[in-house]
Amino acid sequence: MTQDLSNALLNDLIGQMHALTEKALTEFQNATDKQSLYDKKVLFSGKNGSVTELMKKMGQLTPEQKPQFGAKLNEAKQKIEQLYQERETSLGQAELSQKLASETLDLTLPGFAPDRGGDHPVHLVTNEIVDIMARLGYSARLGPMVERDYYNFEALNIPKDHPARDMQDTFFVDDNLVLRTHTSPIQIHSLEKDQLPLRIVGTGSVFRVDSDISHLPHFHQIEGMCVDRNVSMADLKGTIAFFVREFFGPGLKTRFRPSYFPFTEPSAEVDCSCPLCKGSGCSLCKQSGWIEIGGSGLINPKVFQTAKIPYPEWNGFAFGFGIERMAIIKYGIPDIRLLPENDLRFLRQFEF
Ligand code: PHE
Repeated sequence: MTQDLSNALLNDLIGQMHALTEKALTEFQNATDKQSLYDKKVLFSGKNGSVTELMKKMGQLTPEQKPQFGAKLNEAKQKIEQLYQERETSLGQAELSQKLASETLDLTLPGFAPDRGGDHPVHLVTNEIVDIMARLGYSARLGPMVERDYYNFEALNIPKDHPARDMQDTFFVDDNLVLRTHTSPIQIHSLEKDQLPLRIVGTGSVFRVDSDISHLPHFHQIEGMCVDRNVSMADLKGTIAFFVREFFGPGLKTRFRPSYFPFTEPSAEVDCSCPLCKGSGCSLCKQSGWIEIGGSGLINPKVFQTAKIPYPEWNGFAFGFGIERMAIIKYGIPDIRLLPENDLRFLRQFEF
């Protein structure tokens, strides 16, 4: 090939390239949305696009012309990319302003109200009980739900193989660890840690292998304990009477029944008149007219002895009530199992 001929070829290729960039400009301008713009770009600078086609013709050029043309090709590629970007930006802006103009927000439509959370009735009752006891100078305590045998039984004067262990069917974690069957272990933790005299109210989950219309395997208790000088059964009765009246209101009757707990002596169970049948007998109160809410008594000297507290220099009383029991009595709930079911139709009735 003569010099002239090859120069003519180079000029021709460069001319084609300019034409290509010109064409890209008009084609891009004509594109009306981002997708068709992109499709067009691929036709120019994609893998099999016009630019690649031109590149293939490079083989016909002289070794000196090749880099010259290569540089021009790169320029053209960049130019096409720049044209594409510019058009894409302006199309994007146009799409946005069109969207803004066409999609109006109707602020008069009612919104979706998010569900409001509320306290569970067991929680409400717990808080209320703690508040009432606080007015008598009792301070709140918690304790572990998984207890060593010592705290749940032994220190409460329930030795191994003692028949009283049958009163509380126990979930065992292992030989020495149980899910606490009552909140009374909180008494022992307090006797170990707190200064005398003391007045504490412990609350929380307890567990027993038990389940029917009035028993749950997982329920809650409140435990009250007072240790002072010359504490008597009269103090216990007065405290519980105040507490029950404050919690249930004046309309409810209570009674004390002599009973037995290894950690109290003497012991008494506390019953409330049934709110459903008002004492005439129904399935909730097992036809007795009364619902048992818990136990109480003067702390057994053996408990003080184990806790290394000098008795009778110090003595005291304790009581433990079932929180679910108190809730069903207060609100007239016909079945204790409604409480852990967590049906929102039931729970919503306690949103105040
Ligand atoms: N812990 C006993 C129970 O759960 C109740 C109780 C507490 C009795 C304190 C007397 C004193 O059955």
